[in-house]
Amino acid sequence: MTAYRGTFLPFGMPSIGDEEITEVVDSLRSGWVTTGPKVKRFESAFAEHIGAGHAIAVSSCTAGLHIALTALGIGPGDEVIVPTLTFCSTANVVVHLGARPVLVDVGDDFNVSPAAIANAISSRTKAIMPVHYSGQACDLQAIYDIARQHNLAVVEDAAHAVGSLYNGGKIGSSSLFRALTGGSVVRSATVFSFYATKNMTTGEGGMIATSDDDLAKKMRLLTLHGMSLDAWKRYSSAGSWYYETVLAGYKANMTDIQASLGIHQLQRLDGFIEVRQRYAEMYDEAFAELPEIKIPVKHPDRNHIYHLYVVRLNVERLSVDRAQFIEDLKARNIGTSVHFIPVHLHPFYRERFGYRRGDLPKAEYLYDRIISLPLYPRMTNADVQDVIAVVAEVARTSRRVDLPPREPRAGLSEGRS
Ligand SMILES: Cc1ncc(COP(=O)(O)O)c(C=O)c1O
Repeated sequence: MTAYRGTFLPFGMPSIGDEEITEVVDSLRSGWVTTGPKVKRFESAFAEHIGAGHAIAVSSCTAGLHIALTALGIGPGDEVIVPTLTFCSTANVVVHLGARPVLVDVGDDFNVSPAAIANAISSRTKAIMPVHYSGQACDLQAIYDIARQHNLAVVEDAAHAVGSLYNGGKIGSSSLFRALTGGSVVRSATVFSFYATKNMTTGEGGMIATSDDDLAKKMRLLTLHGMSLDAWKRYSSAGSWYYETVLAGYKANMTDIQASLGIHQLQRLDGFIEVRQRYAEMYDEAFAELPEIKIPVKHPDRNHIYHLYVVRLNVERLSVDRAQFIEDLKARNIGTSVHFIPVHLHPFYRERFGYRRGDLPKAEYLYDRIISLPLYPRMTNADVQDVIAVVAEVARTSRRVDLPPREPRAGLSEGRS
C-alpha cells in the first residue's frame, strides 16, 4: 500500500473566511443575535442573486420543505411524490404532515425519473418534490408539464442546487419558473440548504424561494409562530409590542448570526462553484481511464455545481464490494460518504409503508455502487491528486484477475450524455 497522505482528508469541510468571522462578531457585539436586519439583508441579496420573487430565510432546508408543504395545505389523506434517492428529510416532512410519501425511482443521472412520477400519480396526489441531486437539475420541464396536467404543486428540494442552472435559468428564479410553466398556474416553492457541507453555508440554515405572492406571505408567517409580519422587530425602536397570531406557525426563523455567514458566503458562491467544477474536471479526466469507475452523467442543458462528486463503482470488475472499497480508501486517509441510502430501505419506511428491496430497482442498483468523493474549495490541487491516486490504487489492487484487462471506456460513453 502506497502512503499518499500522512493526514486524513475529510469528506467535507466549509470555507469560512475572515469576512464571515468579522460579520459574526459584529452581530454578537450588536446584540442582534436572533432574526434581525442581517437576515433581511441576506434575504434581499439572495433574492437578487437567484432572481427569485421572494426569498424567505429559515433555520434549515428541512424546516423550509415542511413549511412549503404546510402552506400548500398538504395533510392527512394526501400523497406527495418523492424520489427514493434522497436524504430522509425530503420524505420525513411529508410524514410530519400526516400525508404519504410515494417513493419513486431515479434515472442513470441519479435524478428522479419523470416517467416514474407520472406512473405514481393517483387521485390523492397533491405535490411532487423533485430533488436536484448533487447539484445537477432534474428534468424540470417534464416535471412541471406533469404538474400542470394533473394540477399538482411542486416543492423543489434544492438542498444541493444553490447556483444550479436548467436551460440557462437559475434554480429558484422567477424567470425559470415562467419559462417552465408558460404562464399557467402551478403552485411552487424551491428550498435550498446551507448546511455545513453545502456549496455555501450558514452552519445550519436554508432559504425558500418562490414567485407566488400568496404562498410567500403564508410561508413567512409560518416561519415565526404565525405572528403578524413585523413581529421580529418588536424589541427594536422601530417595532411595536403588539402582534397577532394569525396561523399556528413554527419556530423556523434564521438568526442574524447565521445570516452573517450567509451574506459573505453568497458573495463567494460563484468562486466556490468554479473551484468545484475545476476539481470535478480533474476527477472526470483521471477516472475516465479507469474501467472500474464510472463518472457522473452530465446533461448539456444543465450545469453541474458539484455539491457532490458521486462515482459509480463497476463492481462487476472488482473483487471487493462498495463497503470494502470505502474502507480501503479510509485506510489510505481518504474520507468519503454515500448519498444516499434509498429512503424506501430505511426501517421506518419499510415498516410504516411496507417498502422492500426490489421495489425501486434503479436506485438500489446505484446505491450498491456509489461513493461520494471529497470535493470542496478548501481542498488543494494536491489533495485532489491524492484522491485520484488513491482511488486508482484501490481500483487497481481490487481488480478481478479473471477478467480481460480493459473493456470499452464506459466512463466516457455513458458518463457524458
Ligand atoms: C437532498 C437533501 N434534502 C434536504 C436536506 C436537508 O437540509 P438541512 O440539513 O438544511 O435541513 C439535505 C441535507 O443534507 C439534503 O441532502
